[in-house]
Amino acid sequence: MLKVRNLNIKIENDKRIIYPVRDVSFSIDKGEIIAIIGESGCGKSQTAMAINQLNRMDGFTITGTIEYKDIENIITLKEKPLNKIRGSEIADIDQDPMEALNPSLKIGYQIKDVLLQHGNCKRREAKALVEAYLKKVGISDIKRVYKAYPHQLSGGMQQRVSIAMALISEPSLVIADEPTTALDVEMERKILELLIGLQKEMALGVLMISHDLSVVKNFAHKIVVMYGGEIVETYNNLIDDYKHPYTKALVKCMPIIEKPVDQLKAIPGQVFDLSKQVSACHFYDRCTEKLPICLEKHPEIKVLKSGQEVRCFLYD
Ligand SMILES: Nc1ncnc2c1ncn2[C@@H]1O[C@H](COP(=O)(O)OP(=O)(O)OP(=O)(O)O)[C@@H](O)[C@H]1O
Ligand SMILES: [Mg+2]
Repeated sequence: MLKVRNLNIKIENDKRIIYPVRDVSFSIDKGEIIAIIGESGCGKSQTAMAINQLNRMDGFTITGTIEYKDIENIITLKEKPLNKIRGSEIADIDQDPMEALNPSLKIGYQIKDVLLQHGNCKRREAKALVEAYLKKVGISDIKRVYKAYPHQLSGGMQQRVSIAMALISEPSLVIADEPTTALDVEMERKILELLIGLQKEMALGVLMISHDLSVVKNFAHKIVVMYGGEIVETYNNLIDDYKHPYTKALVKCMPIIEKPVDQLKAIPGQVFDLSKQVSACHFYDRCTEKLPICLEKHPEIKVLKSGQEVRCFLYD
């Protein structure tokens, strides 16, 4: 359904040039949940934003191919056809639901507005459909929420509403960038369960972004690991057979109930500087399994027999 190939992003301002996304390729099938993980600043959000071209801005150069259904390349689409895809075909769910919600409009009114813009729903059927979607996202006092302003709702409720708004146009693909980081642990679990339930029910393709592997571990089909603007590994989460030293380090950092909090580790060393273009492996300075070749050459992605992809000389 979605094929991203050789995606590169360069961001230039008067101060410096950075390369936050480098030769990134991955695909998402109908009904598939793909998660992109990696430390803060490794290029996850920039990758996700490129799909709907939300980072088509001054100073940004985006190249590569983003094929979606019968569209050959989203990157080269003009604004008008692009606006037809945004929201109705590929929907975004933000970390901050207030980004999606208009603070000065009542909830019911603004979801109805989105529906009438994107969908082919008749005006007199719209209200009932909005109410049905509010119910679908687990809201019980629909009449109150319909007439409420966003600030009158809790963070969890706001996120439910933004999910209803994202899904009401029946998109095929949903991009959820850290959709639960603003919520407490209990609410995070509820919102994730809701999303996964709706994903199954509507056979949605989902791209879920998180800096925390433990968040996506329980439901992603495939996990894409990014480091220093690159994909370092793509593996099947159901088999859980990751190989890259960076993925192993991330797993060690994952909070586990039985592990006392003081044993939680962060990966030692500095993250890769995205303004650099080096001939070595980006993870070289922090890697505990490095070889001499890792400093001399930049590893390419290798496809292993199992189908998993890894960028590491240990698997040459
Ligand atoms: N508008 C912008 N102008 C300049 N640099 C930017 C802009 N947006 C992002 N960047 C830079 O691009 C790099 C990648 O950012 P990105 O937001 O993709 O990281 P991320 O992996 O999503 O991190 P996080 O987990 O913190 O959300 C970072 O160095 C960031 O500072
Ligand atoms: Mg981000």
